[in-house]
Amino acid sequence: MSAPAVEKVRAAVTAVGHYLPEKVLTNADLEKMVDTNDEWIRTRTGIRERRILEKGATSDLGAGALKALLTNRGIGADELDMIIVATVTPDMFFPSTSCVIQEKVGAKNAWGFDLSAACSGFLYALVTGAKFVESGAAKKVAVVGADKMSAITDYTDRNTCILFGDAGAAVLLEPAGEDTGIIDHRLYCDGSGGPYLYMSGGGSLNPPTHETVDKKMHTLYQDGKAVFKVAVIGMADVSAEILEKNNLTGADVAYLVPHQANLRIIDACRERMGLDPSKVMINIDKYGNTTAATIPLCLSEWWEAGKLRKGDMLVLSSFGAGYTWGAILLKWSMEAPAR
Ligand code: UT7
Repeated sequence: MSAPAVEKVRAAVTAVGHYLPEKVLTNADLEKMVDTNDEWIRTRTGIRERRILEKGATSDLGAGALKALLTNRGIGADELDMIIVATVTPDMFFPSTSCVIQEKVGAKNAWGFDLSAACSGFLYALVTGAKFVESGAAKKVAVVGADKMSAITDYTDRNTCILFGDAGAAVLLEPAGEDTGIIDHRLYCDGSGGPYLYMSGGGSLNPPTHETVDKKMHTLYQDGKAVFKVAVIGMADVSAEILEKNNLTGADVAYLVPHQANLRIIDACRERMGLDPSKVMINIDKYGNTTAATIPLCLSEWWEAGKLRKGDMLVLSSFGAGYTWGAILLKWSMEAPAR
């Protein structure tokens, strides 16, 4: 006798939350710091301002987001089974920022770890968390994307300091009760992209010395033009690929939720998918590139604004250092917030 077919359990996003530092750094502020101007920044990137965490660390951004999420879900921190933190700006090398956040929110029954995939970190972490839910190994997995990019930004380098901001955002994964949740993913990496976006100092290759500080090896370097060329193709390709693989077209998509690195990259991706501009989540104007936080920050803001409906088909898409890139197809599980 053959065993009865087992329905695959999907992981669904059942709560969201985000945390934004209060201090705003505008393009006008940056004009006073480096040789740049508001018009250049807006037309080349779409950014008007970004947030800066003046006191505290990435764990404060992540813990703030997780506390908001728990309030939105109406559960205690002790109900969490796992906390996965995507970040390139951990508080320290060790202990993990996941452990620090676990302590800060009081999630005494959760285990967890940090995951490093730069701007694709949230997508990598979401897929990882989903596997624990799908396998039945965990019931409530918090996936946090948090980065204090101001900690690794050189505010004398106009090529990069205009781009980044600080934020934390989180989603909760639980078994989907119905036909919603994470449907599919395509994740990639190509280590040959390493020389175009990195921070070389502080690790085992170049441990901190006076020389690494003098050479500014503790702040990020980006060859913007090189990254732009591959990002614009990579993000559009993977977003189109995940639709085709699931026999969907742009008409089936309620929202594209793109990593917020550059408005021109987002536009190219949208056009490739045949989407109307109203179907794209964009907040790069307010926050810049917050690395692992951009995608969950969009989800949290759009949910809070009542613009996400249960059953909405979403494509989450990113491209970043590594290179790492990917897309996730997700059927939204949450009702709009009670008014
Ligand atoms: O999130 C992770 C993945 N990262 C990305 O996806 C970022 C990808 N790259 C980009 O978004 C864009 O390449 C940037 C926004 C970083 C730069 O835009 P661009 O259109 O590629 O400009 P560029 O680097 O080619 O620079 C054009 C000109 C240069 O001057 P010359 O050589 O033409 O005289 C730059 O020196 O603009 C100059 N420039 C600036 N001017 C005013 C560079 N930065 C600035 C600035 N203000 N902040």
